[in-house]
Amino acid sequence: MIRGQTKAGGGAGEVVIWGASGHAKVLAECIAPLGYRVAALFDNRAILGSPLPGVRVYRGWEGFEDWRRAHGGRQKFLVAIGGDRGTDRLEIHDRLEAAGLTPMQAIHQTAFVATNATLGPGSHVLANSTVGVETRIGKQCIINTNASVDHECVLGNGVHVAPGAILAGCVEIGDCVLVGAGAVVLPRIRVGAAAVIGAGAVVIADVPARTTVVGNPARPLRKAAA
Ligand SMILES: CC(C)(COP(=O)(O)OP(=O)(O)OC[C@H]1O[C@@H](n2cnc3c(N)ncnc32)[C@H](O)[C@@H]1OP(=O)(O)O)[C@@H](O)C(=O)NCCC(=O)NCCS
Repeated sequence: MIRGQTKAGGGAGEVVIWGASGHAKVLAECIAPLGYRVAALFDNRAILGSPLPGVRVYRGWEGFEDWRRAHGGRQKFLVAIGGDRGTDRLEIHDRLEAAGLTPMQAIHQTAFVATNATLGPGSHVLANSTVGVETRIGKQCIINTNASVDHECVLGNGVHVAPGAILAGCVEIGDCVLVGAGAVVLPRIRVGAAAVIGAGAVVIADVPARTTVVGNPARPLRKAAA
């Protein structure tokens, strides 16, 4: 298991975070006990005031280039963009990596990650969440506060399992899916890429790609264009 990558000792140092919203605060709190300090924040939006006291927010890729000119090296980075924006997380990940930075995982001290689970680069496993035995999680995924991803689940890249959501065993989730807060996905269900599971939904049947489902039992609300 690659959990040790976030432990202090050897790897401790400076981290930059793309996304200057509440999720940046969550990540900063997660990595602080591991000996990491947030050196800079970046955001495409004009941000009034930094979410992290004393840490400057640079605007967009232009701001990143300014910061980069003054700071060489292979600093670690995290992407703090939640919701259903997995595609944005993946794009930013690739661009920061291409600029010479190193993706970092953030695993909260209170999270349980099975020793034989795997977690892709840049993914987050937040407070009190669970990643079960033989589960495979892709790149830039968020297993949010108090979420549970049980045994032998397979998650693609850019997936967000929101706070309190539960994936039972052997669930398969495609790229860039949002599983809304408190949703439950029953065992062996397959959810197609870019689908959205509404908050509190109970998913008892497979969900096609790009489809939003809500309710108990979950029913389609809409399907996005390909
Ligand atoms: C499902 C969801 C994506 C739909 O959002 P939306 O497209 O803006 O939908 P709307 O708010 O316009 O609602 C459309 C209809 O669906 C219903 N609806 C929306 N979300 C619902 C939910 N979670 N469960 C049941 N019904 C829901 C609305 O009541 C509305 O019904 P109506 O047409 O009969 O009035 C959103 O409500 C949701 O649940 N997102 C998950 C948020 C989340 O957990 N984020 C994690 C943050 S860490």
